[in-house]
Amino acid sequence: MTLKRTIIIGLVLLTVAFLAWRFVRPMNIFVVSGHFERPISTAKIPKSLETLRAEECAGCHQEFFDEWATSIHSQAWTDPYFQVDFKFDGSQQICLNCHTPLDRQQENLVLGFRDTDKWDPILEPNPDFDRALQHEGVTCTVCHLREGKIIGPFGSSSAAHPVEKIEDGNQICAGCHVVAGERWDTFFKFPPCGTVAEIQTTHAATTAKENAAPKVGSSGEIVAPDTASLGCVECHMPLVERPLVEGGEGRLVRRHLWRGGHDPEMVKSGLAIELLEKTPSGPEKRKFTLTITNVGAAHYLPTGTPDRHLTVSLRVLNREGDVAEEDNHTLKRTILWRPFIIDLWDTRLQRGQPRAYDIEFSVAENPRPAALEAVVQYFLVDEKRRKRIGYEDKDATSYEVFRQRVVLQTEERPSASETGYE
Ligand code: HEC
Ligand code: HEC
Ligand code: HEC
Ligand code: HEC
Ligand code: HEC
Repeated sequence: MTLKRTIIIGLVLLTVAFLAWRFVRPMNIFVVSGHFERPISTAKIPKSLETLRAEECAGCHQEFFDEWATSIHSQAWTDPYFQVDFKFDGSQQICLNCHTPLDRQQENLVLGFRDTDKWDPILEPNPDFDRALQHEGVTCTVCHLREGKIIGPFGSSSAAHPVEKIEDGNQICAGCHVVAGERWDTFFKFPPCGTVAEIQTTHAATTAKENAAPKVGSSGEIVAPDTASLGCVECHMPLVERPLVEGGEGRLVRRHLWRGGHDPEMVKSGLAIELLEKTPSGPEKRKFTLTITNVGAAHYLPTGTPDRHLTVSLRVLNREGDVAEEDNHTLKRTILWRPFIIDLWDTRLQRGQPRAYDIEFSVAENPRPAALEAVVQYFLVDEKRRKRIGYEDKDATSYEVFRQRVVLQTEERPSASETGYE
């Protein structure tokens, strides 16, 4: 064997081994950045507070508690989909820093890291671990406790705890709803679950405010001259007038609802959908167009994990209600995960850009088509992924956001010559 041949064979084997490893290695789909690599410290807490649990805050802020309790933030740990996915991914500590971020919510303390990517923490049992607090997921103090003070928009001096005024509530959201993705082996347009990144990209593309839009630094820190322009709070925490505590001064406050993909009404409020008949290309034909526009979300719709998607279905039905012809579309972000992470294509809706889907069919067929139906459906979980990770709750993973049926009176339809089609 010549030296040249040995080298070539060696290189081929190395490449094969490298690719094989890329197919089995644990997949680190985001970069662990400074702002969420460790849990939030509760070493300093206000003197008047003891447990840091939501019920403690509810003692004075009942309405805020009631709203939060209906939100997905209060289920960020107990959420059955999260639980299955977390175990499937090997129960990694890093997931906890957003889903149960307070140190007391975590069974282990993070002492340091074994690797530079910070996926392999050095752990030690946490004597202050509080299981009840863990079950509260993204609880009040996760967002409101900083350095022994409660942060809020008013800087009240009459609170039962020390208060620190913050200028912009959106800063709080950005802490978890932005995940950095730049690594040598990932080719994301923006990282997964990157609601903030999506807004930045869309803003940069559609407005001249490029320099004003918040930026994510290379470490994933948010370099944000004006996080305020993200608008998360404005859309996800609607305004209402009420006192902060019973008998307190009436103020303009924000409802703690955070509706999103789990709430059909929220998703519907972001969409404008219209089904219209159009001029067909010839006689004995009919044509319909469904136009769907993201009118209510500053980010892509759907947003969130790449699981989330919409389907658009246009169906021609015969008299028995059977589907004679159908046209299906999926609005989804498609990512190639292995051997490299590459954003392949994205058919989700960008804000304000209408998308049209046509269907044209013959009405001369026998049996004659009797109706046209358009259905738009929202999916929280991708079906293939649901099966792969073994998540059973199939019913809770999708719902309809639009359905319209047009009866086609083909029998009574004038012939082609009468309508002037040639
Ligand atoms: C996901 C983060 C988050 C969680 C969890 C959260 N809050 Fe808030 N809260 C905020 C933000 C952001 C604001 C400020 C909104 C603004 O910009 O005016 C706020 C404001 C408040 C205010 C001041 C009134 C207002 O709306 O401006 C009170 C009181 C309050 N929260 C209490 C609570 C209580 C009690 C809980 C738990 C039951 C809780 N919060 C959970 C983010 C959160
Ligand atoms: C003993 C009653 C009491 C408890 C318990 C309590 N608060 Fe308060 N809080 C108040 C009062 C009083 C105010 C001031 C009301 C005002 O100025 O209108 C306040 C104000 C606030 C504000 C607004 C701060 C600002 O001025 O911007 C936030 C946010 C808040 N509390 C969060 C919490 C959280 C989170 C908890 C639980 C960890 C909690 N509070 C527990 C009584 C309480
Ligand atoms: C401590 C981390 C953290 C912070 C801070 C945070 N979130 Fe979240 N948020 C989460 C997690 C985790 C979930 C997903 C929970 C789940 O489904 O398991 C979530 C879910 C959501 C959802 C989706 C609801 C749904 O139906 O799927 C919305 C909307 C949302 N957050 C908005 C906000 C806004 C607005 C802010 C700022 C006021 C904020 N979040 C702050 C961690 C956070
Ligand atoms: C102009 C209004 C608007 C703004 C601004 C906005 N959102 Fe949304 N958001 C929506 C609507 C409407 C939906 C429901 C449709 C959907 O899922 O995209 C939604 C959905 C979501 C979801 C649900 C995704 C899921 O997994 O179910 C999350 C998370 C979210 N938004 C976070 C944010 C964050 C964080 C910001 C700020 C960086 C933000 N949004 C800014 C309107 C808005
Ligand atoms: C940087 C913060 C962050 C980290 C780290 C993180 N998540 Fe999340 N996760 C979120 C936010 C924010 C959402 C809600 C928005 C969305 O759908 O993307 C979410 C949503 C989810 C959902 C969807 C829940 C539902 O009900 O649909 C699952 C499942 C999930 N995360 C699993 C994980 C797992 C497993 C890990 C660890 C490998 C992890 N997350 C790490 C912030 C984080």
